[in-house]
Amino acid sequence: MQEKINKLNSKIQEAELGGGLARIESQHKKGKLTARERIHFLLDENSFEEIGMLVTHRSTDFGMENEKYLGDGVVTGYGTINGRLTYVFSQDFTVFGGSLSETHAEKICKIMDMALKNGAPIIGLNDSGGARIQEGVVSLGGYADIFYRNVQASGVIPQLSAIMGPCAGGAVYSPAITDFILMVEKSSYMFVTGPNVVKTVTHEEVTSEELGGAQTHATKSGVTHFACANEIEAIQHLKSLLSYMPQNCEEQAPNLAYEISDESRPELDNILPENTTQPYDIREVIEHLIDKDSFLEVHQGYAENIVVGFARLAGRSLGIVANQPAYLAGVLDNHASVKAARFVRFCDAFNIPLLVLEDVPGFLPGTDQEWNGIISNGAKLLYAFSEATVPRITVITRKAYGGAYDVMNSKHIGADMNYAWPSAEIAVMGAKGAAEIIFKKEIKEAENPQEKWLEKEKLYSDIFANPYRAAERGFVDEVIRPAQTREKLIKAFKMLENKVVNSPRKKHGNIPL
Ligand code: HXC
Repeated sequence: MQEKINKLNSKIQEAELGGGLARIESQHKKGKLTARERIHFLLDENSFEEIGMLVTHRSTDFGMENEKYLGDGVVTGYGTINGRLTYVFSQDFTVFGGSLSETHAEKICKIMDMALKNGAPIIGLNDSGGARIQEGVVSLGGYADIFYRNVQASGVIPQLSAIMGPCAGGAVYSPAITDFILMVEKSSYMFVTGPNVVKTVTHEEVTSEELGGAQTHATKSGVTHFACANEIEAIQHLKSLLSYMPQNCEEQAPNLAYEISDESRPELDNILPENTTQPYDIREVIEHLIDKDSFLEVHQGYAENIVVGFARLAGRSLGIVANQPAYLAGVLDNHASVKAARFVRFCDAFNIPLLVLEDVPGFLPGTDQEWNGIISNGAKLLYAFSEATVPRITVITRKAYGGAYDVMNSKHIGADMNYAWPSAEIAVMGAKGAAEIIFKKEIKEAENPQEKWLEKEKLYSDIFANPYRAAERGFVDEVIRPAQTREKLIKAFKMLENKVVNSPRKKHGNIPL
């Protein structure tokens, strides 16, 4: 027996070395961790159970039968994060550049199937040169097997992707289907075709970093939700993200213990600037409303006119969608609409209640917006809120104008509770523009048109630049002092805890993509 155990031990040792010491050293020299080191930092100590450690590829072309590595370029298994079951695959760049062979794909599919059957999140740590070139179509088939499973698992278990090296070609589509992508600055990139192909086809000269680095995707394309300074930061973010989520769509996110005490926040009474056209940072309002230091902002550098992220309120997980008056006056545009819509859909899929903070002057006008589909994109956000069945509460802090009033989780599209601060202005448009249109003739014919315009602007403003018309109709449930907001939200979300909505039977809706 001892001899047999020795043989097993030597195989384990061989597998643990992946592509060998020289390649591990080269990985470290690039400032990257190995596949196993990443798992070590991600999972609770000694919780990792590996599956498929001794798998090898089956390829025989190009002399491949003589070059085999145990594990075949991906470490797969399960463990716990903060005590909760999590499945993980971690691509090993030291074995054929982490490229995806038929068996490499089979290993990933096996744990995806297990994650789905057992209702626990799956995390992919990606570091791969793409399809294993020596294997041809079986490698492409392997990718498609993964994509298919990503879609089956979507909305059932949380799927997170950390990009910690190259991610090129069709390989980007598995992460793109998952719920959240995290990229590491300077050492990871994602693109469908690399700089060389770009140069040949479009004659553009661009570096990998510019084309598909973390900053590019965090600010320009919105493909990644987080750009992390290094791999350890990315791993911390993965753990933090999971802490706000349930294990699967049938469960609730974990609650942290919380003792209700004095929940009033007097600072909020003075947080808005005197002048209603002045910007303020909605993050400051968020910080006063939520549990201390609990905000995890998602997509921080992309479409900054809307802020989305996870937080806790009296220990409960919450998704926040907030217009940002400090950026483009908080206007809704193409990118902001899509960013918020996807976040709302994630929260709804995983039973995370939604809080909306509204201060929006309307949709951004212009050819750029229209030609890039603000109609369809704005409709995505409208659709996402309207179909969401989780508890939903809106607080109108200041402006709620035009179509944006309807879209931003209004009572009419199914919000459960709508509060307004006394500073709220709820109307079709701002008083200046409104007066110009409806009193056009009177203003034109007046002795002093400017004076007349101001007089009519005041008239419109007196009628609509407040929350009371909406409150009279019940479109706003209560006008509250800002200082009371946190207390009101805690009570209302508690009241909505057991909300049930029976939606009409359908195969699936048809969100305007
Ligand atoms: C097989 C690969 C490989 C691949 C890298 N290697 N990519 N082996 N298939 N796709 C191997 C290299 O031969 C090398 O082996 C080792 O991995 C490390 O690669 P290097 O080139 O030395 O590393 P580096 O300089 O860091 O460059 C990394 C890289 C580059 C940028 C990823 O290797 C590269 O461009 N690879 C090809 C990328 C690609 O075109 N993939 C196909 C994309 S299309 P040794 O033995 O020297 O260690 C695709 C289709 C998917 O993926 C479609 C799904 C729908």
